[in-house]
Amino acid sequence: MLSQQERDEIEAEFPHYEKKRGVSVEAMKIIQRHRGWVSTQAIEEISEFLEMTPDELDGVATFYNLIFRKPVGKHVILVCDSVSCWIMGYEEVRSHLLSRLGIQFGQTTGDGRFTLLSVPCLGACDQAPAMMVNDKLYGNLDPAKIDEILEAHA
Ligand code: FES
Repeated sequence: MLSQQERDEIEAEFPHYEKKRGVSVEAMKIIQRHRGWVSTQAIEEISEFLEMTPDELDGVATFYNLIFRKPVGKHVILVCDSVSCWIMGYEEVRSHLLSRLGIQFGQTTGDGRFTLLSVPCLGACDQAPAMMVNDKLYGNLDPAKIDEILEAHA
């Protein structure tokens, strides 16, 4: 069941959209902020609240790669996998992250600390190669900078 806080936050979005279902993405982001990810149960709860079917909402969820439909780690690392970053050192960033974390893209470290995901352009091409950790952008990455960033996220 959606908590009162979750319902209030979703309802606060209603005036910005013509129909309740227009709030789909925002509603899932709100739930994700509270629960860490969007479970099948959460899809059912949100869809009922927005007067949609769970399948319709799940279709929206799968379209947005930042809606997590599986549990994720405490920190989610989104690594840009697009052309400017390829040119500016993506391969070194990728291989350093894979070896430091000991996981592949789409996986979470055994201690639950990091989930590593590959995403299209983060819109920070002037700072390529770039990645985001949670909501914070990091650019001009190299192995030393990546180590500092990882250590800052205990
Ligand atoms: S190509 Fe990597 S941020 Fe745009």
